[in-house]
Amino acid sequence: MTIKACINETSDTEDIVAAHAIHKAAVNNHWSYSTFADCTTKPYSLLVSKMHERVIGYAIVLIVADEATLMDIALLPESRGMGLGKQLLQAVIDHCENAGAQAIWLEVRASNHVAQQLYHAFSFNIVERRKNYYVDGVSKEDALIMQRICRNT
Ligand SMILES: CC(C)(COP(=O)(O)OP(=O)(O)OC[C@H]1O[C@@H](n2cnc3c(N)ncnc32)[C@H](O)[C@@H]1OP(=O)(O)O)[C@@H](O)C(=O)NCCC(=O)NCCS
Repeated sequence: MTIKACINETSDTEDIVAAHAIHKAAVNNHWSYSTFADCTTKPYSLLVSKMHERVIGYAIVLIVADEATLMDIALLPESRGMGLGKQLLQAVIDHCENAGAQAIWLEVRASNHVAQQLYHAFSFNIVERRKNYYVDGVSKEDALIMQRICRNT
């Protein structure tokens, strides 16, 4: 049986608060609430994934001219590995293509193999490796820059 989430763009404060809580739990060096909330207004958009009215995941997208950037995507830990990330990423791609984007860019930690598998499955390709891009205290990690060409091109 396929579990299906309800995905929509939102600027509702309750959705932003819930998405920020997921962000804080998922991301090292997470953004403050005010930075996160700023990234939900134009030219950014927040997409949330809901099950039974509860926010279980989110994506933040930036679209400038014909280029889109997936700034962040995350699900609640208990909602991962069930295909909901694929549904959310497909909604992100549809959102970007409907807005006229010709390419979608993102960056991902070199160690984040789950996210990289997801992106590869949706035809994102690695175009650059940025050495020591992420700095967490004394440890450093490379970033992979990935790009997906959209159907608008
Ligand atoms: C990355 C993330 C959004 C993916 O969502 P998800 O719901 O877990 O992924 P899905 O269940 O839709 O699976 C999508 C693909 O990811 C890969 N994947 C998922 N779980 C995996 C696991 N435990 N191990 C290896 N690959 C895995 C598989 O390739 C899978 O495709 P398949 O089922 O056809 O093999 C989610 O794991 C997450 O929130 N991670 C923490 C935040 C994060 O890393 N965000 C990305 C920042 S760049």
